[in-house]
Amino acid sequence: MTDQNKDDLYHPSVGVGENTEPEAKENEQPLAANAMWGGRFAGGPDAVMEAINASIDFDRRFHGQDISGSRAHAAMLAAQGILTAEDAKAIDAGLEQIAGEIERGEFVFSRALEDIHMNVEARLAEIVGPAAGRLHTARSRNDQVATDFRLWVRDAMDRMIAAIDDVIGALLDKAEAHADTVMPGFTHLQVAQPVTFGHHCLAYVEMLARDKARFVDARARLNENPLGAAALAGTGFAIDREATSKALGFDRPTRNSLDSVSARDFALEFLSASAICGTHLSRLAEEIVIWSTPQFGFVSLSDKFSTGSSIMPQKKNPDAAELVRGKVGRVNGALVGLLTVMKGLPLSYSKDMQEDKEGVFDASETLELCLTAMGGMVADMAVHEDAMEAAAGAGYSTATDLADWLVREANLPFRDAHHVTGRAVGMAEERSVELAELPLADLQGLNSAITEAVYDVLTVQASVASRTSYGGTAPANVRAQVTAWRERLT
Ligand code: ARG
Repeated sequence: MTDQNKDDLYHPSVGVGENTEPEAKENEQPLAANAMWGGRFAGGPDAVMEAINASIDFDRRFHGQDISGSRAHAAMLAAQGILTAEDAKAIDAGLEQIAGEIERGEFVFSRALEDIHMNVEARLAEIVGPAAGRLHTARSRNDQVATDFRLWVRDAMDRMIAAIDDVIGALLDKAEAHADTVMPGFTHLQVAQPVTFGHHCLAYVEMLARDKARFVDARARLNENPLGAAALAGTGFAIDREATSKALGFDRPTRNSLDSVSARDFALEFLSASAICGTHLSRLAEEIVIWSTPQFGFVSLSDKFSTGSSIMPQKKNPDAAELVRGKVGRVNGALVGLLTVMKGLPLSYSKDMQEDKEGVFDASETLELCLTAMGGMVADMAVHEDAMEAAAGAGYSTATDLADWLVREANLPFRDAHHVTGRAVGMAEERSVELAELPLADLQGLNSAITEAVYDVLTVQASVASRTSYGGTAPANVRAQVTAWRERLT
């Protein structure tokens, strides 16, 4: 190993997140026994032990949650007579001071103190003296980290829910503006039947609304308080878990202490809801990429959401859409990563679980960014109605309308109507004309019941207007759905 490598190993860089603060401080060699748990240790850890063990470089993102949890715990201990009012007051003031120090970037994080919990407690001891040592009564880092992480993920869920609402809002505006805009509907990416662009936008509204519901559901399951489970078995102290639940905005305490410190399915649910939402965004992103090609020309992205090429002056690239499409990869990675960490872990806490955080942080930042970018792209993009409409008529997209007309007006069984229509399409194809351009006499040659009225259903406008079945693409349906969504969302 080169010295450089060694140096990297002992100074792992901060990989994730908003960490603009300086990295945690290195301990000088030789390392002293840990002040928090070093009672039975003669010496400190090897430097590589500290490197693999320390989580402070990423879990300091919990500082707000950690301090809130500690303040709730201290207040509860005092109310229960486990802490004196005097100690509780000193602890609370000390914690508030620490919150300020961290916010102002004055707090010195230390890797030797492993994680956010011990960094905060050690600083508290400097500020308030021996009373700080009483804060850890009737709790453990195991219930502490479970509490902090739930609080953090709960906030992340709330951020995703709000960000999804913004994208839904942008899509509803587009749907309303384009309730009548006809575009080709595709299956197999082949022109199938005309639809309205508004209807297409509303399809994504449906997906995103389910994504939001997944976060809302997961949030309700998450919102139980593990604090008070202590290390794994609960505690003999007469704690009041209802009180800390209330103080931290949890609906109730968790029921089983082992489960409380072992469960990370709230994070898995967050990641899984994120991965599904990211997948939906990637599909819309892909469509935007396709639609914005000169070959399609259905939409133009605003300059704000495009980039140029350094070599080809004519190019305008949909990078934001491509990145939304691509970034779901890391969200999926985070989900698979945590599933793999949790698989086969015995109850209760194992240090493996410290690996639960970075993927969640990254996935949450990634999805929020993707949602924001998608909202902006959709709101800003120009829709080219003429290009959409021209493409909607191509590829004999109203053939089904002809078949339906034969069923309705000439009482043909659908299979026979399908056959007659197929022959009409063949005829039109041979002559390189649209269905509506076939002379009536030729159509009547295929089936004598066909009348002039058939031409009314062969336009793309007539086609979409006729699709009034519940959930169908008719402009009237689109407008009704937009109204219903707006009511639902307010
Ligand atoms: N940093 C640890 C984590 O993130 C906190 C819990 C440590 N508990 C323990 N028993 N060592 O999981």
